[in-house]
Amino acid sequence: MQDSRDVLDRVERERETYLDELKDYLRIPSISTDPAYDAEVRRCADWLLERMRDAGLDARLIEGEGKPLVYGEHLGAGPDKPTILFYGHYDVQPPDPLDEWRHPPFEPTIEGERLIARGATDDKGQSYVHLKAVAAVLAERGALPCNVKFLIEGEEESGGEHIECFVRADGGEHLACDAVFISDSAMFGKGQPSLIYGLKGMAYLELRVDGPSHDLHSGGYGGQVRNPANALCSIIASLHDPTTGRVAIEGFYDRVLDLSDAERAEAARLPFDEDGMRADIDVTELVGEDGYSTIERRWARPTCDVNGMWSGYLGEGAKTIIPAYAAAKISMRLVPDQDPVEIEDAFVRHVEAHAPAGVRTSVTRHHGGRAVLVDLEGPIVEAAEQAMADEWARPYRVREGGSIPIVSTFAEVLEKPVILLGLGLEDDRLHSPNEKFDIPQFYGGIRALVRFLDRLADVEAT
Ligand code: BES
Ligand code: MN
Ligand code: MN
Repeated sequence: MQDSRDVLDRVERERETYLDELKDYLRIPSISTDPAYDAEVRRCADWLLERMRDAGLDARLIEGEGKPLVYGEHLGAGPDKPTILFYGHYDVQPPDPLDEWRHPPFEPTIEGERLIARGATDDKGQSYVHLKAVAAVLAERGALPCNVKFLIEGEEESGGEHIECFVRADGGEHLACDAVFISDSAMFGKGQPSLIYGLKGMAYLELRVDGPSHDLHSGGYGGQVRNPANALCSIIASLHDPTTGRVAIEGFYDRVLDLSDAERAEAARLPFDEDGMRADIDVTELVGEDGYSTIERRWARPTCDVNGMWSGYLGEGAKTIIPAYAAAKISMRLVPDQDPVEIEDAFVRHVEAHAPAGVRTSVTRHHGGRAVLVDLEGPIVEAAEQAMADEWARPYRVREGGSIPIVSTFAEVLEKPVILLGLGLEDDRLHSPNEKFDIPQFYGGIRALVRFLDRLADVEAT
């Protein structure tokens, strides 16, 4: 193992520069779900490409359909040394609702130890940690203890379909590595990292209920035609069993693998702070499927949620109409071994069976992906655990409720461990207003990554 002190000193000296760069990165509104921001997404890819080149990587954009992938590599350590593939995403979620931000979402602002901006934690801040760690080692020593590849995508938040095609077509030719490393989640708690071995999958749909050809006077027509907004609500209500909290779509649980006894024991052992979570998000009670604890629900139970719904008059004051249509965006989080297409089909059948008379329903399918469980074994995983321990503490092994669509493809195509080590914190508000990244997490992450790279100096390529 190489001594990291030279590089850690440099990181300390350059801390302001690193933070300023991250702020520049966060100023670019790279919202991938909204085509109005396509030019900004591209500008963001170009910006990142330049930072990879500044770091000393051989970097290029991989263009195809969809947003550019930013790829960079440094293979100077030679074929006997392991190669780490760092994955991250430079796209961000839309900042809405805008008026709940304390500062403009794309004007990064520091409040105490927090850097507040859209993308601060998810995933610009976290993935920039990897690049700065590599940049710091190269700046200090002109060489790396292992080989590195970076693949940063621009459409993770909109389903990541094109990177999926790219990785499958590549089949491990350019992307060959000994481990994939991803920081796009949170640590278990402050000072307590976690290593994720399971992520959820996803089926995302849009449900539209159409009634009359135009909005109607609700006195003239009320009680005589089906109201699409009422109909949408009744369909949505039918998606759950109100007594058990279970999803009521036929066949939904058919392929669900239950938690093993060992996992349930581990989930019960971890100091998961339900009251702290409840207080942080300010809800009166945590609720979910009967028979499972909060952590078990997060780790391993599939869910169905409305992400947005709209219908009728949404302006100020009252307007008396029966709306012509109503619509909702609905996501289902999947667990092993549910199949996204089967679940979408079951959803469509459920809607057809539960739509009341007098309206037409239609379902549009957005993106989907399978849940994944990764194997975490071998010297590189061990090096990552040790490096985290040197900086904070040895990571807990956990599952998470979020999804990163490309992870299952990496695991399948590259057949190497996928190390999911989050550098954010639980209260980072990803996807929400006032998203933040704790600045100590940024620097701690860079130091941990430098230690990780240095630990690979005595690990052999597999
Ligand atoms: N970083 C998240 C995924 C995540 C969040 C993993 C929390 C573990 C814990 C990622 O950027 C994300 O938001 N993914 C989307 C994927 C979807 C759009 C296909 C998600 O989970 O909603
Ligand atoms: Mn993310
Ligand atoms: Mn996200």
